[in-house]
Amino acid sequence: MPRRFDGVAVARQIYGELGLRLERLVSRGVTPRLTAVLVGDNPSSRLYVGNKRQACERLGVESRVLELPADTPEEVLLERIRELNQDDATHGILIQLPLPDHIRTERAIDAVDPNKDVDGFHPLNKGLLLEGRARLYPCTPAGIMKLLDAYGIQVEGMHAVVLGRSNIVGKPVAFMLMQRHATVTICHSRTRDLADIVGSADLLVAAVGRPAFVQPDWIRPECIIIDVGINPVTDEVLLQNILPPEHPRWKAFQSRGRLILGDVHPAAYEKAAGYTPVPGGVGPLTVAMVVHNTITAAEIQTGADA
Ligand code: GUN
Repeated sequence: MPRRFDGVAVARQIYGELGLRLERLVSRGVTPRLTAVLVGDNPSSRLYVGNKRQACERLGVESRVLELPADTPEEVLLERIRELNQDDATHGILIQLPLPDHIRTERAIDAVDPNKDVDGFHPLNKGLLLEGRARLYPCTPAGIMKLLDAYGIQVEGMHAVVLGRSNIVGKPVAFMLMQRHATVTICHSRTRDLADIVGSADLLVAAVGRPAFVQPDWIRPECIIIDVGINPVTDEVLLQNILPPEHPRWKAFQSRGRLILGDVHPAAYEKAAGYTPVPGGVGPLTVAMVVHNTITAAEIQTGADA
């Protein structure tokens, strides 16, 4: 039986550790605050921002959301970000992506004060990440590293295969694994012989955004699978090709008309040494790391990180 890595349990552990750091800040008169910037009305973005805010509030970190209409001019957004940079009560700034097409994402990310950049997306923080000395790491990759640590998985010497080359997950997690002495292969949509490469992985990080993309016969029995995908599936015919009729998740599909699937075929988990489930794997850790980074940012800005 493969090990099932419980992201909810590891997130709980992270919140426990953060509670102590938060107490220290509060005792010095500092209540960390996250301000999320939400431009437009993308329902998924609204849900993600809601989850992050809820996690902050539950621990005692303040959260705000700056909502701007979808037609907000780029210059107005940049001015709002500059105001948040100057606002001493805001310690963490998160620009929820994707932004509307008329706004250049890189202009918005570059405008965030690097010390308030809880997403770790600012070029300065990315540069520090390449050198292995960032303070604010992107939340999903940082959550993955916390999970590996919590389960005592030493990546040193492993062949880690990263599927996906996004700025948010693929690229940063590849460098973070390399920093821990893994041998890393980054694959993407144009990679040849994908099945063979995945088949040689000791650790697979799947972050391609396609439901059940990684096939069971690609996986070797020693492989540890980190499934980053959060793919809503509403198409019953598609699901019939993925889940056998007796699979327990059909019940949830029938009642909600929708299932969230990872990037890895559910049958592939069974062929591995261990895996993160979807939901309940990487997702809760991403949220926990937003709270973590907001507290770290507050420590940096108030000189409590020495
Ligand atoms: N959109 C999808 N993932 C992310 C993320 O990690 N951070 C932000 N800000 N937006 C996202």
